[in-house]
Amino acid sequence: MSKKIYVTTPIYYVNDKPHIGHAYTSVATDFLARYHRIIGNDVRFQTGTDEHGLKIQKAAEKEDIKPIDLCDKNSTKFRELSKILNISNNDFIRTTEDRHIKGAQFLWNKLYENDQIYLDEYTGWYSVSDETFYNEKDLIKDEKGNFKTITGGNVEWISEKSYFFRLSNWSDKLLEYYKNNPDFIMPASKRKEVVSFVSSGLRDLSVSRTSFNWGIKTPNDNAHIMYVWLDALTCYPNGVNYLSDEKEDVSDYWENTTHIVGKDILRHHAVYWPAFLMAANLTLPKRIFAHGWWTNEGNKISKSLGNVIDPIEIIDKYGLDQFRYFMLREVPFGNDGDFSIKALEGRINSDLANDLGNLCQRSLSMVNKHLGNKIKCVSLDKEELEILNSAIELNKNLSDMVMNQNITDYIKSVWDLINNSNKYFNANEPWKKVKVDLDEFNKILFTTAELIKIIAIYIFPIMPSTSKKIFNFLNLEDSNINSEYLKIEEFNDYKINSIEALFPRIT
Ligand code: MSP
Repeated sequence: MSKKIYVTTPIYYVNDKPHIGHAYTSVATDFLARYHRIIGNDVRFQTGTDEHGLKIQKAAEKEDIKPIDLCDKNSTKFRELSKILNISNNDFIRTTEDRHIKGAQFLWNKLYENDQIYLDEYTGWYSVSDETFYNEKDLIKDEKGNFKTITGGNVEWISEKSYFFRLSNWSDKLLEYYKNNPDFIMPASKRKEVVSFVSSGLRDLSVSRTSFNWGIKTPNDNAHIMYVWLDALTCYPNGVNYLSDEKEDVSDYWENTTHIVGKDILRHHAVYWPAFLMAANLTLPKRIFAHGWWTNEGNKISKSLGNVIDPIEIIDKYGLDQFRYFMLREVPFGNDGDFSIKALEGRINSDLANDLGNLCQRSLSMVNKHLGNKIKCVSLDKEELEILNSAIELNKNLSDMVMNQNITDYIKSVWDLINNSNKYFNANEPWKKVKVDLDEFNKILFTTAELIKIIAIYIFPIMPSTSKKIFNFLNLEDSNINSEYLKIEEFNDYKINSIEALFPRIT
């Protein structure tokens, strides 16, 4: 039965152009959206840009342009990156859009009406780079004696009038919620961190600023703008029109929401966000999954080290599907990982060119050479039926893995299938059979073509263009690759189109 599903990436800060971390979150979320569509779910997938706050205002001042002009310029770059990465989002939200501003103010009003917000003064540390308030105990001192965030970001001491959200009242409710919904935060190691953070006690959270003006006005008081995280988080329900009194059908998606975020922003998503929603009597998302961080050849990625990786350069050189595959396969989803050119080239040559590329090319070009582009549909023996049925059955496991965002095991299982298919092909030695038994040869190639079709469906979430290319080799309609194709074609002959190398080897 088709389910309504909503998946989201974080919205990206527009102070600078996109880098590999943004590309990673988007590709991983795209994987999930595409798989859900394959199995017939009705998916909404939102990405977008986070455009308010001091970080953006300062970046605009530095370039001597208006904040909105900086936002327009850089938001376009993120939109373009989504296209380059072949991301299948249905929506791209900007926090400077009216629909977003209305939704953010709607949530504020609910919190205000429910007496969850009060006026006071914030005096303490603030990091502009991650737009976060810090307790001194959570900071570290550098060699010069200056306080820094654990990721090395600067903090400044601020003191200004501010509205506060009664976060401290929600500690117990949050802990109870985590306990009753053990899958709310994943992976489990990250849930533990959040539970221990909340257990140590929460302080009320400053949710408005008065010392600058690039933000959404708080509806009850013109002198304040909303804290940028309160503003930004509402982008998610705003994309499905949930923060409004006139909810449309689209808000049904909200009931089944998965947020994919990096580990650096887990606290905002797994503590502040559910507390805001509970305090406003609104529905919480189903799942928050935090992925790890990439380093570059073993080093932390940072502008000051000058080692920021531009995803577009890598894609230009190695190809998009190669890049997507590497990002998703190299690092267990949820862990930190390292980006290295050697590892990327290794994966392209072994997993892509040798395993997948060879399977398709060797077998299908034999059809074109010896069977005049046609494979006849034949009745299959036990061995063939078994291998094909288990390839089809695999989809049940894959589906369970996707429900748990287990992208890593998904890819490993698909590669086991590719390797088993190669084994079947080799063990049956079609290059010998072609000389002595053309029917037997045809049967081996038919089975292999069926396996290749099933594999093409499973790799669609990872490498959509390659998947389509394989469908084209098999002369199958590629506009809607889905699990309807997961059956043995008992009546259809195959016509094989001309074959090209899928993944050029890197030498
Ligand atoms: N604007 C906030 C999110 C608001 S969501 C309501 C934000 N933006 S961001 O542009 O700084 O980061 C967006 C995503 O990129 C985060 O999920 C972050 O973890 C990810 N990455 C940034 N650098 C990264 C790496 N080096 N490695 C992996 N992902 C990282 O935070």
